[in-house]
Amino acid sequence: MTDSPTEQLRHEHELVLMVVEAMEREVDDIERTGRVHRERVAQMVDFTRNFADGCHHSKEERVLFPALEERDAAAGGPVSVMLSEHEAGREAIRAIVAALPDIDESEAARTAVAENLALYAHLLRLHINKENTVLFPLAERILSDQEQEMIAAEFERIEKEETGAGVHQRYHELAHTLATPPAEG
Ligand SMILES: [Fe+2]
Repeated sequence: MTDSPTEQLRHEHELVLMVVEAMEREVDDIERTGRVHRERVAQMVDFTRNFADGCHHSKEERVLFPALEERDAAAGGPVSVMLSEHEAGREAIRAIVAALPDIDESEAARTAVAENLALYAHLLRLHINKENTVLFPLAERILSDQEQEMIAAEFERIEKEETGAGVHQRYHELAHTLATPPAEG
């Protein structure tokens, strides 16, 4: 039996939180050493853009949130907060992408990378906690079993047709790689 839609999303949150923790460690490293691990930060950006946004937020924004709003107009309030938090996360990632090419010569660029990694990590921790403790319990309460099955089928379609086969697994592995601290050197 497949997991319910909210179980799947909670599981994906665990992967996102592994990368959030790696970001917090990177911020500490930058503050301590004044250096940025360019390749690791690029991998964090890749993960957030293609997994957190491309896969996970797609499922929420295009399937779960509209289903909640359709079922109960009162869900519109929390849903619009979630959407604006997704957008704030994208904004922080855009700032990292803009600063990353200049980290060797510019201290301001290194600071921008550290600040926006810290901002993203802070935002996502609060955001995931809200989804896990408020929005998902609401979804589990108001959506029928049949509606949840339809949502799970739609998630499967997004993963197969849009995210692409094997991509989920690849980002699963990347989250574990990032969760391992880099060798000093
Ligand atoms: Fe989420």
